[in-house]
Amino acid sequence: MRATAILMSTILVTGGLGYIGSHTVVELQAAGHHVVVVDNLSNTNAEVADRINTITNTPFAFHKLDVCDTEALAQVIQQHEVDGIIHFAAYKAVGESVEQPIKYYQNNINGLISVQDCMKRFDIKNLVFSSSCTVYGDTKESPITEDQPIVQAISPYGTTKIIGEQLLADFAQVTDTRIVSLRYFNPVGAHKTALIGELPLGVPNNLVPYITQTAAGIRKKLTIFGRDYNTPDGTNIRDFIHVVDLAKAHVKAIDFCETNTFGLEVFNIGTGVGHSVLEVVNAFELHNKLQLNYDFGDRRAGDVEQIWADTSKAKSVLGWESELGLEEMMQSAWNWQKQLS
Ligand code: UD1
Repeated sequence: MRATAILMSTILVTGGLGYIGSHTVVELQAAGHHVVVVDNLSNTNAEVADRINTITNTPFAFHKLDVCDTEALAQVIQQHEVDGIIHFAAYKAVGESVEQPIKYYQNNINGLISVQDCMKRFDIKNLVFSSSCTVYGDTKESPITEDQPIVQAISPYGTTKIIGEQLLADFAQVTDTRIVSLRYFNPVGAHKTALIGELPLGVPNNLVPYITQTAAGIRKKLTIFGRDYNTPDGTNIRDFIHVVDLAKAHVKAIDFCETNTFGLEVFNIGTGVGHSVLEVVNAFELHNKLQLNYDFGDRRAGDVEQIWADTSKAKSVLGWESELGLEEMMQSAWNWQKQLS
């Protein structure tokens, strides 16, 4: 079971103008795939399509629609003769999901069901799904392998990922589909052109956007949540992964679907190396030659002490491993922020 020759096929990317989606469109086009994007623009804007075009100089079809609208999705799939789907379209704000659980279940679960419905109708065999390391919960097992048990999620957002994987397992059982679920660790950074990246919506919850907005003067100070964890410097440890590496993992995953026979396969997508929050802050200062205003505060409720990926399965089966380090992550994140401000 190893990814072999890359086939040129038509890939539908749901949420393809979002943060990870847009980087994946770029990498799919670079690998020679035809791309069709659907996005409801709920957390991005149509200008991202032009920016992708500037990077790749290769046109792709874009349809503004909500994946939960199964009939609209079906029409697009029929029109373009889609060979495979990469499904990103979903809400992803952990805190908001706690406040508005129904919104998250409705959108994230119905969106996936709609995609599966269309796969059945049009006999589409290949699917890549965006999952998250949040399915491992408050683990003590790092580096964590894919066979660690899935536990109860901390947030409704996390629960939608667990339910999503279960839906896919059940679907794979009764169809001859090939489905890859990628469990992302902590995606950060932006494209080296600074043309695409994460578009901030309100006050960021995630670490790196908070760092870059602080450096840009939009936020006064970064608070590091907790310095009394049982880690070498007392701050949390995460597996930060460059979004371009993550995008390339999707290309490998769709190619794997097209060249192998299986039901559902799950892969960790991280670097395999844990970095503490303080290390990330120091790397940001070092590689961008600036000083960040930060202090230490209380622990944030729901934070896992330390988690990083065992990525050996992705390496041996998909033939994928990360290439970019903290330096590229921090520099690209800052370059992206500078052109936004
Ligand atoms: C969270 C989600 C994860 C999701 C990911 C998206 C949970 C438990 N985690 O991961 O499912 O896929 O976002 O990127 O639901 N930090 C600070 N100060 C800040 C912001 C963050 O110190 O202002 C620290 C946090 O305490 C944490 C680390 O930075 O230790 C990373 O936080 P964050 O970027 O929010 O990601 P996670 O919580 O790891």
